[in-house]
Amino acid sequence: MSDTPDIKKGLVGVYADVSSISKVMPETNSLTYRGYAVQDLCELASFDETAYLLWNGELPTAAQLAAFQAEEKANRALSPALLRVIADFPKDAHPMDAIRTAVSFMGMEDPEWADIGDAAQRRKAMRLLAKIPTAVAAAHRAGKGQAPIAPDASLSFGANFFNMVFGKVPQPEVLRAFDVSMILYAEHTFNASTFTARTVTSTQADMHGAITAAIAALKGPLHGGANEAVMHMLKEIPSPEAAESWLEGKFDHKALVMGFGHRVYKTGDSRVPTMKKYAEIMAEVVGDKRWMNTSNVLAKVMLARKNIHPNLDFPAGPAYYLMGFDIPLFTPIFVCSRITGWAAHVLEQAADNRLIRPLSVYTGVEQRPVVPLPQRG
Ligand code: ACO
Repeated sequence: MSDTPDIKKGLVGVYADVSSISKVMPETNSLTYRGYAVQDLCELASFDETAYLLWNGELPTAAQLAAFQAEEKANRALSPALLRVIADFPKDAHPMDAIRTAVSFMGMEDPEWADIGDAAQRRKAMRLLAKIPTAVAAAHRAGKGQAPIAPDASLSFGANFFNMVFGKVPQPEVLRAFDVSMILYAEHTFNASTFTARTVTSTQADMHGAITAAIAALKGPLHGGANEAVMHMLKEIPSPEAAESWLEGKFDHKALVMGFGHRVYKTGDSRVPTMKKYAEIMAEVVGDKRWMNTSNVLAKVMLARKNIHPNLDFPAGPAYYLMGFDIPLFTPIFVCSRITGWAAHVLEQAADNRLIRPLSVYTGVEQRPVVPLPQRG
């Protein structure tokens, strides 16, 4: 019998801890947040209610929701110092790098930066939820040489974000589709960015440090960055009719097809049907079916040829494009939502903490003597 430990590369199949925040059930392609099916939350609740649910374990009453929303609205503004820093970011900086840097800066400015107690961390989470969209919109506008648009406390979370990006609020169907995407992106157990946030938290580092690291992890195209990659891919395909032969070319090169596959779901991502429905509503609203038609061909051929299903990023990419967002904003929008799940995990990790510190099997050179510099030739 070999004495080499059983290595789970990529931590495939490893249960790293317990969690009461969300549950993925790949056998039924379903996902619950605190016991509620995510598609039910999309139809019967809002993103604000979902954020409250993730942080408090229960859906809010009307009074609790009003207080939560008032607090979020009151915390949206950025400091003059942060606005100056954002204005000085390189014009071609990727918005994910911009928001990662802005969140790190917010950590230094936070009045409770040194306090990692539960109450202070919750207040920091609220400040991040409120300020991240403001920073994303300000950095995006700065990259285009435009002045930031101040947050408007008379507007809902989504309407305010559109207003800060475009200077106007879209029609209700667009806001609804955006809100649904925010609910679907809010939380998903121990994914790479969430586990990163938990790992940072396990060292007793603070909320902003954990979220800064989580943003860095989310940027990669194997994770959140895939929603941008999906739209680049759809734009590369000349027409829906050309999609199948385009995909054959990818198969020939064994290339990854972005927005497909998932570490946990192997027979379909629970969030896709709802997001697809709202992406199709967006295509109707805008009167442009090209992206969804191309998507449908890709999904059909991927299933028939590779037995691989789309993940949430696949319908979210075209949905955001049809909402009018520039492609580099897609993953930062994911951040605006996932801050809720990340913060819930930071609180949960801190409440019952043990340092996360796995082992590795050494495969390098066996121990050997150090040859002093003059004798090394
Ligand atoms: N395109 C082509 N082939 C794929 C894809 C894909 N998108 N996804 C998986 N495969 C293939 C793998 O190459 C592998 O083939 P092989 O057995 O011949 O080597 C097989 O399917 C099994 O894949 P896994 O190894 O089980 O995938 P893993 O769990 O390691 O990776 C991941 C999951 C990273 C999501 C992968 O599917 C991928 O790279 N997808 C594209 C990027 C993407 O869309 N990411 C978004 C994830 S969801 C989210 O973050 C919201």
